[in-house]
Amino acid sequence: LNYHVPRTRREILEILLKGLLRLEYRGYDSAGVGIDGGNGKEWEANARSIQLIKQSGKVKALDDELTKQQDMDMDVEFDVHLGIAHTRWATHGAPSPVNSHPQRSDKSNGHQGYHKGYEFESETDTETIAKLVKYMYDNRESEDLSFATLVERVTQQLVGACSSTERGGPLLIGVKSDHKLSTDHIPILYRSSGKDKKGCPTLPRMEQDTCHTLFAEEKKSVEYYFASDASAVIEHTNRVIFLEDDDVAAVTAGRLTIHRIKRTAGDHPARAIQTLQMELQQIMKGNYSSFMQKEIFEQPESVVNTMRGRVNFNDNTVTLGGLKDHIKEIQRCRRLILIACGTSYHAGVATRQVLEELTELPVMVELASDFLDRNTPVFRDDVCFFISQSGETADSLMALRYCKERGALTVGVTNTVGSSISRETDCGVHINAGPEIGVASTKAYTSQFVALIMFALLMCDDRISMQPRRREIIQGLRVLPDLIKEVLSLDDEIQRLAAELYQQKSVLIMGRGYHYATCLEGALKIKEITYMHSEGILAGELKHGPLALVDKLMPVIMIIMRDHTYTKCQNALQQVVARAGRPIVICDKDDYETAKSSSRTIKVPHCVDCLQGILSVIPLQLLSFHLAVLRGFDVDCPRNLAKSVTVE
Ligand code: G6P
Repeated sequence: LNYHVPRTRREILEILLKGLLRLEYRGYDSAGVGIDGGNGKEWEANARSIQLIKQSGKVKALDDELTKQQDMDMDVEFDVHLGIAHTRWATHGAPSPVNSHPQRSDKSNGHQGYHKGYEFESETDTETIAKLVKYMYDNRESEDLSFATLVERVTQQLVGACSSTERGGPLLIGVKSDHKLSTDHIPILYRSSGKDKKGCPTLPRMEQDTCHTLFAEEKKSVEYYFASDASAVIEHTNRVIFLEDDDVAAVTAGRLTIHRIKRTAGDHPARAIQTLQMELQQIMKGNYSSFMQKEIFEQPESVVNTMRGRVNFNDNTVTLGGLKDHIKEIQRCRRLILIACGTSYHAGVATRQVLEELTELPVMVELASDFLDRNTPVFRDDVCFFISQSGETADSLMALRYCKERGALTVGVTNTVGSSISRETDCGVHINAGPEIGVASTKAYTSQFVALIMFALLMCDDRISMQPRRREIIQGLRVLPDLIKEVLSLDDEIQRLAAELYQQKSVLIMGRGYHYATCLEGALKIKEITYMHSEGILAGELKHGPLALVDKLMPVIMIIMRDHTYTKCQNALQQVVARAGRPIVICDKDDYETAKSSSRTIKVPHCVDCLQGILSVIPLQLLSFHLAVLRGFDVDCPRNLAKSVTVE
């Protein structure tokens, strides 16, 4: 939304499409844009002038479609202008132009005027909201209904994500102006809670003089960017306001107000205007061919960012500001439950053993969907961790609410400041890995791993018997970034291995102990982006089934490190060799014994046992990347998958 900032329609569309590109990681099977006729007509008139352009496929396809539009004057300049754009990831209704968003309240498309009746044109559930807006507008009792009031009424009728009954995705407002902002917070206004004859809450117009607004003074130029992720607006402004559930934000003649219908105990009286530290460069690809490749190579720095200001390598101490008020309570709990989906779940599997060792507590690791399906018993003296890169995964969020209802203490481990999980948990740790754009998670995994290790170290910092082990792990963390660099230098070798494997149908990955999680995570990476069948197999279960798959043709990758499972892993290796298998082994760089029985080895540097999983997963991240490139697939946007799955 721009006010007193002259912009051509072309510029507005460019801003919208660029923003969409940044959000493509959320879903990318279709996209659409709607823009108005400009220059601040009354909103009813404005609604009639909206033009919608929608297309299947990625944002690029929408861009191409826009350049074909003949009847739109791209160079016309407006002082006041409004536009909206969406990417879609299909849930209800197949990806198609008509099903992509924005959805409209009636079938008129700008030029044809209003139609009576409510004919549905798409198969999406979203369209019912647009039609409901129209219905409520048509049946209004007062002629001068404001748009904000209409929206409030509609949300009161809705059930589901993003409605007033359930919390939905995040929404933030970026504010850009050459003028100094007159305030750093917007006080919340409340509506009267009375009901009219029809049972609708009465929503009187708000008095302008009691309104605390941003840019109350006339004629100051300002642009507002409403977006579901800061990456879409960061190019224009780093001043943002995160909205809470049930907030209704309205911009009228350049003035922003935020109001709520009901006042609830514990509500914050204002929304702060925050300054984001994120830089655009952080979310750009740089010299890499894909975000995933960039993110793999960022890991020496991202793990440092996770530890920065938290691990003191001189006195072997760990501080986690987000947990400090709760750590005593956590130390007294009866068990820890780690709950997550996908890669984040694997970070829980990877660190379970060291958590059990250092906390001496029972630790459960749970897939959020299954945890909910089972109605798992949860108690007040449980501590539940929600590990999520995005902080928005619906299954994890539902599990969080389930645990909160049962009185457990909830802890978030997320990579997204202001995300739903980070806001709804009692306390937490931000992993600070920086934005992750590639759908296949890489640097978030290693940072989640490090964050959970830091938590384990904190839990036992006053246990004298644990000090030697703590020191060993902390000194391991100190050298970790250099060891990651060493593993990344194997890239060429791994690319050659990928060239030998990329036409195969299947890959089995076997390991045990600290490396079982690496097997699961490596297999997930291969499935996600190469579409090859891949399975992570616990080597301890080999003879209970998976061994039947092994022959001289089946590609087998084994992870064998010098830890307490070494001898057992050697046995598994011999079993595979005895079935004519030709295993590729990821092992310690000086392990000549293992090299003798392997057809090929990938040698990684040695680290303390509980951190070694960070070094063993990176070769598999690189392998999946090269396999996907050789097979000709889009590494960052695998088919059928989304970065952030906000539906259960
Ligand atoms: C999706 C992504 C995965 C991710 C999982 C959990 O399935 O494709 O890469 O691991 O969600 O996401 P979260 O943001 O909760 O870590």
